[in-house]
Amino acid sequence: MLNLCLLSFFLVFLVFFIPQISFSCPQDQLQSLLEFKNLLTQNIKNHSTEPSTLEGLETWRPNSDCCKWQLVRCNSRSPTREVIDLNLHSLVLSGSVSSSILRPVLRISSLVTLDLSSNFIQGEIPGDGFVNLTRFISLDMSDNNFNGSIPPELFSLKTLQRLDLSSNVIGGTLSGDIKNLKNLQELILYENFLEGEIPPEIGSLPELRTLTLRQNMFNGSIPLSVSELRKLETLDLQNNSLSFEIPNGIGKLVNLSTLSLSMNKLSGGIPSSIQNLEHLETLELENNNGLSGEIPFWLFSLHKLKILRLGGNNLQWNKNGSVYAQSKLTHLSLKSCGLEGKIPDWLKNQTSLLFLDLSRNRLEGSFPKWLADLDIGTIILSDNKLSGSLPPSLFQSMSLSVLAISRNNFSGQIPDTVGETSAMILMLSENNFSGSVPKSISKIHRLLLLDLSKNRLSGEFPRFGPESMLALLDISSNEFSGEVPAFFGSNTIVLSMSQNNFSGEFPPDFTNLPLLMHLDLHDNKISGNVPRIISRLSSSLEVLSLRNNSLEGSIPEGISNLTSLKVLDLSENNLDGSLPSSLGNLTGMRESLPSSSSPLPFMFSFTIEIHDLAVNWKNSKQGLANRNLYLYTLIDLSKNKLLGEIPTSFGNLKSLKLLNLSYNDISGSIPQSLGNLEKVEILDLSHNNLSGEIPQTLSKLIELNVLELSNNKLTGRIPESPQLDRLNDPNIYANNNKLCGVQIQVPCSTPIQQPKEKDEEEDETMFSWKAAVIGCPCGFIMAVVVMYVVGYFSGSPPPPPRRSLKNRGLKKSISLFS
Ligand SMILES: *[C@@H]1O[C@H](CO)[C@@H](O)[C@H](O)[C@H]1NC(C)=O
Ligand SMILES: *[C@@H]1O[C@H](CO)[C@@H](O)[C@H](O)[C@H]1NC(C)=O
Ligand SMILES: *[C@@H]1O[C@H](CO)[C@@H](O)[C@H](O)[C@H]1NC(C)=O
Ligand SMILES: *[C@@H]1O[C@H](CO)[C@@H](O)[C@H](O)[C@H]1NC(C)=O
Ligand SMILES: *[C@@H]1O[C@H](CO)[C@@H](O)[C@H](O)[C@H]1NC(C)=O
Ligand SMILES: *[C@@H]1O[C@H](CO)[C@@H](O)[C@H](O)[C@H]1NC(C)=O
Ligand SMILES: *[C@@H]1O[C@H](CO)[C@@H](O)[C@H](O)[C@H]1NC(C)=O
Ligand SMILES: *[C@@H]1O[C@H](CO)[C@@H](O)[C@H](O)[C@H]1NC(C)=O
Ligand SMILES: *[C@@H]1O[C@H](CO)[C@@H](O)[C@H](O)[C@H]1NC(C)=O
Ligand SMILES: *[C@@H]1O[C@H](CO)[C@@H](O)[C@H](O)[C@H]1NC(C)=O
Ligand SMILES: *[C@@H]1O[C@H](CO)[C@@H](O)[C@H](O)[C@H]1NC(C)=O
Ligand SMILES: *[C@@H]1O[C@H](CO)[C@@H](O)[C@H](O)[C@H]1NC(C)=O
Repeated sequence: MLNLCLLSFFLVFLVFFIPQISFSCPQDQLQSLLEFKNLLTQNIKNHSTEPSTLEGLETWRPNSDCCKWQLVRCNSRSPTREVIDLNLHSLVLSGSVSSSILRPVLRISSLVTLDLSSNFIQGEIPGDGFVNLTRFISLDMSDNNFNGSIPPELFSLKTLQRLDLSSNVIGGTLSGDIKNLKNLQELILYENFLEGEIPPEIGSLPELRTLTLRQNMFNGSIPLSVSELRKLETLDLQNNSLSFEIPNGIGKLVNLSTLSLSMNKLSGGIPSSIQNLEHLETLELENNNGLSGEIPFWLFSLHKLKILRLGGNNLQWNKNGSVYAQSKLTHLSLKSCGLEGKIPDWLKNQTSLLFLDLSRNRLEGSFPKWLADLDIGTIILSDNKLSGSLPPSLFQSMSLSVLAISRNNFSGQIPDTVGETSAMILMLSENNFSGSVPKSISKIHRLLLLDLSKNRLSGEFPRFGPESMLALLDISSNEFSGEVPAFFGSNTIVLSMSQNNFSGEFPPDFTNLPLLMHLDLHDNKISGNVPRIISRLSSSLEVLSLRNNSLEGSIPEGISNLTSLKVLDLSENNLDGSLPSSLGNLTGMRESLPSSSSPLPFMFSFTIEIHDLAVNWKNSKQGLANRNLYLYTLIDLSKNKLLGEIPTSFGNLKSLKLLNLSYNDISGSIPQSLGNLEKVEILDLSHNNLSGEIPQTLSKLIELNVLELSNNKLTGRIPESPQLDRLNDPNIYANNNKLCGVQIQVPCSTPIQQPKEKDEEEDETMFSWKAAVIGCPCGFIMAVVVMYVVGYFSGSPPPPPRRSLKNRGLKKSISLFS
């Protein structure tokens, strides 16, 4: 009875009083939040390029209950209804805001969780602001631009269970004071610049389940104390500089499901204690270089193991043993693990495989049909000794996205079924494929990259339609013939079709490729005049190589329209006419700006290198790494029949590294302006009709280390400078009209030498110029293919999702593929 009375009194109390008491959140907290909103809005106006909508903050208005605002949650159980949760994730969409705007937020001492992730916040973490947050459990400041170091005040937040500072630019060391966070369950610091050793105190965090220090600069050893973290489920130390052995104590972490130590400098073997980790699903030890010893076959008995990456170490495969796989792997990398013989049979029952990398082994034999039928998304078998033809059913797999089998000895024709695949990447280069390429290859609707280079493929190359998504095509070094293929979709960025037998004229259809950056057609049989329409090629074009074809006519003035051009190689043709002075207007060669970082801007999740471009560089054929193209800005017009004078405007090409005009009929004197080519390293004007004196201005060329002026009609004193004095091989100046100077040890008797043409002609046989330019036939360098598409095809599992705009490119690319 009494109880009932009390209860009804309590109910009455609840109904009548509580709503009034808790009508609004505390006034000071409301003010703090409004102050934050105000600071943020001002900061965005001051620093951001695009306005951010600050979605949700429109509900933050004075004279309202801040507990009803979006992004805010109050404590409903306390009559004072303090603010406990703030979810301010991804309010700011671009630009930068200062970390000082956080101060008012941190005054709300009742806060339990605070999510500030993905907001372009810059500056140091205002550590002193955290001292009063005595109930704080979760802090997420990931994906911003916080710098400085981790403030010590964070380590006194004894209630903290989750600390996520990933994807910032925080440096310094990780303090041993981390041990004060006795309740910490998740410590996520990936992608920062933390350095020094991982403090051994890390082992004093009894509740820790997730430790992610991936992609920092931690060095030293993995602390032995990690074996005390008995509740640990994820240990991700990938991509640091950790060395020494993996502690055997790791086997005590019985709940571990992810152990990721790839991309460090670890040594020693795989600890045998890992067999105790029966919950292990992901084991990544890739690319440590130093890991050695035998690959223990008990790994394949770990029932739950799904992802196993061991490639890029010195690990050895036991040829005598046999694997009875108990695990159902989804990802397997055994790159460079010393596998020999046939592709191992035990893979047959790995029916869940999505990703298989067996590259850089000594595998031989054929591509097994059972492997083709396993329906794997990514198959990488490059750099082995596999042979025979490809099973047609390979291309009938519904899952195949990436096939990389370069540098084997596969032969035969590319199967007719190739058109049935939905692969995005096909890399079949440096094999022994022959015959014609099935027309259906142009029907692969998601194909982005096709590399068929260095095979014996012949016939006409199929015509791709305008709907094709192909971005990158390399068919160089084959035996293709017929018209130069020029029909591609508007996504085409790189076309490498050199060293074939393509003939006919330069096709006008290349002008329909608005994104084209790289057009390499050297060593073919293209004839006819250099068409005027060359000026209407994509203004993104950085590389144009037509070396060693049969082109005629003059170089069109309009070529200066190609404002991004950095490499122009028209050597070894039959070009005549004069040198267009508009070449001096090529913007891409006037300013040393780095070329667009990736040749595939929309494929954020890939890093791909194709055949490097081969040009003549310092007396040998040289492959130029595509991403460093700006280092090699060059014009090579040698071995043509060009006439007239060198235009003064050439002196404007300030970022030019190589200018080769040799073996033409160029006359007049060397313009003074060439002394302005401050970056030039190679200047070859030999075998022309140049006369007059060598301009004094050349003494300004301090980078010059190859100079060829032989076989001209130059006269007078060779200019002197520390750089020019070093270029004292007489062949540099041979066969001219009485040059004199210290470099050739001919004293100048008079200040000005008179030309004596007859002498020069007599000398010619003595100093005949040795054509050393076309030296090395092996100029191509095939760059290592490092590719990964998140999901299918990754060097590592996708990092924890980042939710900011920074990743919109990635999302775009994925939707492109799906
Ligand atoms: C923004 O700029 C205005 C004037 O330029 C200045 O008064 C204000 O303090 C700035 N606000 C912030 C948050 O930097
Ligand atoms: C912490 O609380 C004390 C006492 O209420 C106050 O003086 C101080 O300003 C507070 N510090 C911060 C950063 O809010
Ligand atoms: C952090 O960034 C801010 C703003 O960009 C800069 O002023 C400050 O010097 C940086 N601090 C450190 C320690 O790098
Ligand atoms: C490894 O870390 C470096 C910087 O520390 C970064 O540039 C690189 O992209 C990372 N590699 C991978 C594969 O994550
Ligand atoms: C780790 O790096 C720091 C600098 O960040 C250096 O002083 C220290 O010697 C390095 N330690 C080891 C073991 O390499
Ligand atoms: C491992 O995980 C299980 C289930 O989550 C839990 O019951 C057990 O206590 C954990 N073991 C340790 C040592 O934390
Ligand atoms: C494999 O077996 C052969 C002979 O049976 C033996 O000589 C060799 O050492 C064994 N190799 C390994 C790696 O165990
Ligand atoms: C694969 O086959 C082996 C025998 O070769 C067997 O012991 C194992 O259980 C099979 N594994 C799976 C995942 O089916
Ligand atoms: C490649 O395979 C062919 C047979 O198809 C064989 O004659 C040739 O010797 C092999 N080449 C190499 C380098 O193994
Ligand atoms: C390519 O295959 C032919 C026979 O089909 C063989 O004679 C030749 O050696 C192979 N080439 C290479 C590089 O292996
Ligand atoms: C240069 O390009 C523009 C468009 O980018 C075009 O209108 C113009 O005709 C081109 N010039 C020549 C000489 O082709
Ligand atoms: C080069 O550009 C300048 C200014 O843009 C222009 O006046 C000049 O006519 C151009 N020269 C040639 C040869 O196209």
